[in-house]
Amino acid sequence: MSTQTTREPTIDAPSHPEQSPRSEQSADSGQAPRSGLVEITNVHKSYGADEVLHGITLRIEPGQVITLLGPSGSGKSTLLRAINHLETIDSGSITIDGEYIGYERRGDQLYELREKEVLERRTRVGMVFQNFNLFPHLTALENIIEAPIALKRATKAEAVAKARVLLKRVGLSEREEHYPRQLSGGQQQRVAIARALALEPDVLLFDEPTSALDPELVGEVLSVIKDLANGGTTLIIVTHEIGFASEIADYVVFLDAGRVVEEGPPAKVLRSPEQARTQEFLDWVI
Ligand SMILES: Nc1ncnc2c1ncn2[C@@H]1O[C@H](COP(=O)(O)OP(=O)(O)O)[C@@H](O)[C@H]1O
Ligand SMILES: [Mg+2]
Repeated sequence: MSTQTTREPTIDAPSHPEQSPRSEQSADSGQAPRSGLVEITNVHKSYGADEVLHGITLRIEPGQVITLLGPSGSGKSTLLRAINHLETIDSGSITIDGEYIGYERRGDQLYELREKEVLERRTRVGMVFQNFNLFPHLTALENIIEAPIALKRATKAEAVAKARVLLKRVGLSEREEHYPRQLSGGQQQRVAIARALALEPDVLLFDEPTSALDPELVGEVLSVIKDLANGGTTLIIVTHEIGFASEIADYVVFLDAGRVVEEGPPAKVLRSPEQARTQEFLDWVI
């Protein structure tokens, strides 16, 4: 469990960047201002005539761990993908530390950025997918060093040294030469987490990171995520693992049919929800 003091997401409009908490120093560290503030404001998204996000507003403080729950089709993946601009949005805004990932503002209008600029900005947000999405033709180590080298963030030697530290952190030092097909699902997902960390993102998104795993492999991946929860990176985790959510989340958001139905601390939302739909979902999932 994170020991940082965190604020709860609010439904306020985003504050002016100069006034936002990212410019505050954390009370115990005395370090540089923390980054990883995610502000999602009145986001709407449709696929054709089908509106799947109906005005989502959430504010996630730097270093906060939030879990996003909701039935299949409620818009969880769409929201995560919108955060790092793998999806466009129709209206509203999403910023990381006051900056758009896929857009720039000119006057009152947002304009989509070019692919190259999006790629550069997107590196602030790491993503871990349900099906790992490792490059099958690259070893564990090569998967991790690929982006830092391609983006010229590190020399090959630097990237390799760092990848080894990351592999150690996820408990896979012995597996650096293994290809994805030679690794279990849990090991592949841990490589994917190491890969996501290689660019030192301010925000990490997890889209059902354990739901493709055999039950006996779930624990090893959750324990790696738990370790990250103490590390100061903002984590947004879509999961059906309610026990895990209640253990590590600072804040829980329940989404249904593209709307935030209920949000609050895990003790509240997961143990005594106010909304019948939340309770129904919990009864079904537990
Ligand atoms: N690329 C797409 N094209 C059309 N409809 C989509 C697309 N992606 C998602 N949807 C629809 O949007 C809704 C929300 O999907 P999704 O965000 O994947 O939900 P969740 O992750 O909560 O299961 C669903 O009705 C889904 O069918
Ligand atoms: Mg999904």
